[in-house]
Amino acid sequence: VLCWFYIYPVYRLPRDKEIVEEVLRQGEVWQKNQTGIDLYRKLLTDCCDPRRMFAVTKENSPMGKVLWYDGEFYHSHTVNNETFSLFVQDNPLQLPLKKCAVVGNGGILRHSKCGRHIDQADFIMRCNLPPLSKEYVEDVGTKTHLVTANPSIIEKRFQNLLWSRKAFVDSMKVYGSSYIYMPAFSMKPGTDPSLRAYYALSDTSSNLTMLFANPEFLRTVGKFWKARGVHAKRLSTGLFLVSLALGLCEEVTAYGFWPFSVGLDEQPVSHHYYDNILPYKWFHAMPEEFVQLWHLHKSGTLRMRVGHCP
Ligand code: CDP
Repeated sequence: VLCWFYIYPVYRLPRDKEIVEEVLRQGEVWQKNQTGIDLYRKLLTDCCDPRRMFAVTKENSPMGKVLWYDGEFYHSHTVNNETFSLFVQDNPLQLPLKKCAVVGNGGILRHSKCGRHIDQADFIMRCNLPPLSKEYVEDVGTKTHLVTANPSIIEKRFQNLLWSRKAFVDSMKVYGSSYIYMPAFSMKPGTDPSLRAYYALSDTSSNLTMLFANPEFLRTVGKFWKARGVHAKRLSTGLFLVSLALGLCEEVTAYGFWPFSVGLDEQPVSHHYYDNILPYKWFHAMPEEFVQLWHLHKSGTLRMRVGHCP
């Protein structure tokens, strides 16, 4: 610890307790800052071009295009007849989006009563196919316009879709007619399950539209945050979505981002609003990300909801 202190004397990530205290000091006071919003939209547009690049489309990924996996070295997929036919023509979103809600899965949402607030947004983004059953509705809402799905969920929860696809298709119904956003070209083992998820939905005339995350977009967003002090190997899903929202929406509110084990009332908080299963090495990335998000909150660029909703 001593060595570490001498090598990095300039920047030290505040300890969790200090972050929590800082949030308490600031309270929920928030003032929108249009200059900050415009600046971040420009920064993100310059680095990552979310409008054009967030999904793999026929426009940005024509036949023969080499898609380099962002989560692995030297792996690529060359767009062929089969994959090209699965891509949407172009960015399908009606831009600009007005009020966006990005909903993380933090346990802080439990008993927050934020459901009504969230449902009032024009565009609601959620992470990793979260549960939206009755018991959570009051806290997390019911509507979804875009939901991410990691291929590892397809593997763990739905037996990789190698057997029955009914459980998968049925459990997707809570997301209505939203976009399902899958990083199909991030890790090699994730491609096949993502394609199977696509076919499971299209074969059953599901209302959902599959969008594959563009690995180039994920890579440039990763670099963007790395340059701002987020040193994790990979960004959390939530920070990708906040970045997307900052690039596409006129106003962004983030809910459920709280990677700490105590709340503002000093009571224990579970990791997720639906369980307390900690991810592998989760603590390395998320507090760093939270500090960045909190800076954006303080500067009026996005709004973080970390307490109860009125
Ligand atoms: O797959 P990943 O671990 O990134 O996400 P998750 O546990 O399904 O949660 C979705 C997102 O919510 C994360 O990516 C984080 O950005 C955020 N989150 C948070 O800020 N605090 C928590 N305690 C849990 C999740």
